[in-house]
Amino acid sequence: MATKIKIGIIGGSGLDNPDILKNSRPKVIENTPFGKPSDDLILGEIEGVECVLLARHGRKHDIMPGNINYRANIWAFKEEGCTHIIAATATGSLQERIKPGDLVILDSFIDRTQGRRQTFYDGEKNHPPGICHLPMEPAFNERTRQLIIETAKQLDIDVHPSGTVVSVEGPRFSSKAESNMFRQWGGHVINMTSVPEVVLAKEAGICYAAVALATDYDCWRDNKDEHVSVADVLATFKKNVTKVTRLITAVVPNIAKENWDETLQELQDVVKSSVML
Ligand code: ADE
Repeated sequence: MATKIKIGIIGGSGLDNPDILKNSRPKVIENTPFGKPSDDLILGEIEGVECVLLARHGRKHDIMPGNINYRANIWAFKEEGCTHIIAATATGSLQERIKPGDLVILDSFIDRTQGRRQTFYDGEKNHPPGICHLPMEPAFNERTRQLIIETAKQLDIDVHPSGTVVSVEGPRFSSKAESNMFRQWGGHVINMTSVPEVVLAKEAGICYAAVALATDYDCWRDNKDEHVSVADVLATFKKNVTKVTRLITAVVPNIAKENWDETLQELQDVVKSSVML
């Protein structure tokens, strides 16, 4: 019998409304081998498909990007039986053509975070044994990405079908010199959370994809009225949150319709062959 599909949804700033789930109920996770997740998991269904929602920054939005326990979050999804994670993330745009309000289906990353734990295989007691050198191409699950792109087409929602996210440590925004450097490096959007989330999801054998909403132009443009501020990020997120929610809720049944056995097995094999015991 095909593996039962269960979909984790990670809500960023503005997208953690439990109303997107039917029959929603909290599940308190007191602890994982890696500590406590950002908040309770919210269990529920979308079109009869089991889903698990988690507010990345906590429901009170009181955990800054560098203090999020990414390992506990991903571990909790895995323990709950999630085969997939769809993450929403607010990002700054590093390219003229990606306008505030646009959606980007991420396909790679540049890591500018500092000192975040990026692996479950850290040699500590009660953690998985060995050392894991996991390949990061592809970083995001390609089949899940393609389904999001197809679903967007069905809904008549424009998306940029690929994009490299630069994940910075934060919590400050970038300087203009940094922003220009990230543009030269080939970054398309910038945020503070995709790394190590995407890395840990792959290590956990979960199909992970992310819908990035461009909320601002960071600070590389000459017009200083267009430089990023918290107010801009929140306002643009609020204005476009329905578009993100519509896309995510529509992609859930499209994912669940398919058989993922081979994809999940391949992911598991990559992880297994990456662990040195
Ligand atoms: N999240 C939203 N906009 C951002 C920006 N400009 N830099 C980093 N993270 C962001």
